[in-house]
Amino acid sequence: MDKFLIQGGQKLEGEVRISGAKNAALPLLAATILADSPIRISNMPNLRDVNTLVKLIAGLGVAIEYAGDTVTADTSTLNNQFAPYDLVKTMRASILVLGPLVARYGEAKVSLPGGCAIGSRPVDQHLKALEALGAHIEVENGYVHAKVDGRLKGGEVIFDMVTVGGTENILMAATLADGVTTIRNAAREPEITDLANMLIKMGAKIEGLDTDTLVVTGVESLHGCDYAVVADRIETGSYLAAAAITGGRVRTTHTDPALLECILDKFEEMGAEVTRGEDWIELDMQGKRPKAVSFRTLPHPDFPTDMQAQIMAVNAIGRGFATISETIFENRFMHVPELSRMGANIQVEGNDAVVTGVEKLSAAPVMATDLRASFSLVLAALAAEGETLIDRIYHIDRGYEHIEAKLQGIGAKIKRVSG
Ligand code: UD1
Repeated sequence: MDKFLIQGGQKLEGEVRISGAKNAALPLLAATILADSPIRISNMPNLRDVNTLVKLIAGLGVAIEYAGDTVTADTSTLNNQFAPYDLVKTMRASILVLGPLVARYGEAKVSLPGGCAIGSRPVDQHLKALEALGAHIEVENGYVHAKVDGRLKGGEVIFDMVTVGGTENILMAATLADGVTTIRNAAREPEITDLANMLIKMGAKIEGLDTDTLVVTGVESLHGCDYAVVADRIETGSYLAAAAITGGRVRTTHTDPALLECILDKFEEMGAEVTRGEDWIELDMQGKRPKAVSFRTLPHPDFPTDMQAQIMAVNAIGRGFATISETIFENRFMHVPELSRMGANIQVEGNDAVVTGVEKLSAAPVMATDLRASFSLVLAALAAEGETLIDRIYHIDRGYEHIEAKLQGIGAKIKRVSG
């Protein structure tokens, strides 16, 4: 199993090119199922999760090719609507094929994603919403079997909580339903707007982009198009955090400051100088120790749960103390014991944590537990005295493209070791 060996203490400086967003790439791939002519999506990040979904869609009989940063898909050969457990279990986002399959083919059998390291994460909202559009749903032997006679019928969907995947699934399904669907309490993450923009390019009729109410007027068919995945705001924030924690200066390019204003505000509160360009962001910590900053994770446009672990790591060496409340997921503080092994002072009570900054972290063997938690350990290692070994980095490969090369490019001493 691969590990990272990181020699801490380098002030990171330079440029990092940001990849396409994993969390946009996955729903865009699922949406290819809706198109009745070939579709081409570029700026695809080369990640394990993307490869998993490509494999799953290929298993449906779709002629799907992934070369360079581009995926092309042609659904004319699709011959089954079955997503098996062995693929779905490795990635929760596989459930995103459910809506498109029922909408276009009237039937789908998709494995339940099962448990996940960061909380129980059910899919009840996805299923309830599809039922509201007339799908008949049965859950049997770990599989969701959804069926509809003819087309789905437009309807009113009110989510009990803000769900990113639920909103995406039903948005895709509604594009081919008969009539108008109103989705209330919809998630407003930029990746949802990216999906809506591609669906519109495919011929869908969607109003209310960037708001919590999406109105979809169903059409009979959708066609292929050319589309580029939006920049990854979480990857952007993660590399800016690398500058903050090492007192360095990093410019992220091929990104968009408008996607992560809330995170940039936090960096400014830390005392960093943040400069925004049209498609770049530079963070200069000027060799200073950041001030610890408090925050609460909430749905977009508030502070994203996917940046919680990374900013906690920066706080660990911050001046003063900060409180962090995780309101989206239960059990998303698994990085805390690992950061503590490196000398961080963090007290957890339920979904709240108090971080009291220490002047220096020290190297220790640690273990990655989930995708974003893994990056927080990389950050801590970059700032720590000594050489840190991070185990189980397969979690990182799910969501950070070319991470060693990107970090080495800004002066980090990181290498991948196997065994
Ligand atoms: C997506 C992101 C993930 C991010 C999360 C929250 C992708 C591929 N993943 O995950 O990186 O951390 O949004 O921004 O885009 N819930 C239910 N029932 C449901 C659906 C969700 O109870 O049917 C709960 C979940 O357990 C969780 C909360 O709602 O507590 C939010 O989950 P959701 O927004 O659906 O997250 P994902 O789409 O899985």
